[in-house]
Amino acid sequence: MISKNLQKELIVQLNKEFHSAYIYLGMSAYCSKEGFNGAASWFLIQYQEEVAHGMKMFKYLEDQGAEITLPDIKSVKVEYKSLLDVFRKSLAHEQFMTKNLNNLSDIAMKEKDHATYNLLQWYVTEQVEEEATVGEIIDHIKLVGDNGYGLYTIDKELASRNFVDPTQE
Ligand code: FEO
Repeated sequence: MISKNLQKELIVQLNKEFHSAYIYLGMSAYCSKEGFNGAASWFLIQYQEEVAHGMKMFKYLEDQGAEITLPDIKSVKVEYKSLLDVFRKSLAHEQFMTKNLNNLSDIAMKEKDHATYNLLQWYVTEQVEEEATVGEIIDHIKLVGDNGYGLYTIDKELASRNFVDPTQE
């Protein structure tokens, strides 16, 4: 049985996962407005992934018989400085999420809640992949700098991403 304390902490994280989805929706809107349709589509898939992360936590809380509450989701910005800026902000956000998940894992470990700890390890592993993917895109954008054709090529590559539900892999 999950403790009241962990229930509360997981609901905070659940909210952060849906807030992440919202952040990526804002990033998609920015990219679309700037004509980076591939990046816009990439961020829409990122949005779907975050919804899947949120739903996995929601289902876990339900399975644990937790008392679910759904607090407000904070508003997000839709303005960024450049394609590089938007991906940099995305990486910073994922690093923030990793920190939260590590803290949560510490709490689950302290409470000897193995089931919740296992759940959180799934998220921690997912974060490694997310940070690496965004880091690689940032490197590519940095390589081409302001070169329009280079940015166009990167945008085309980003368009090829398909959604694969990470919770079903
Ligand atoms: Fe669900 Fe990208 O953190």
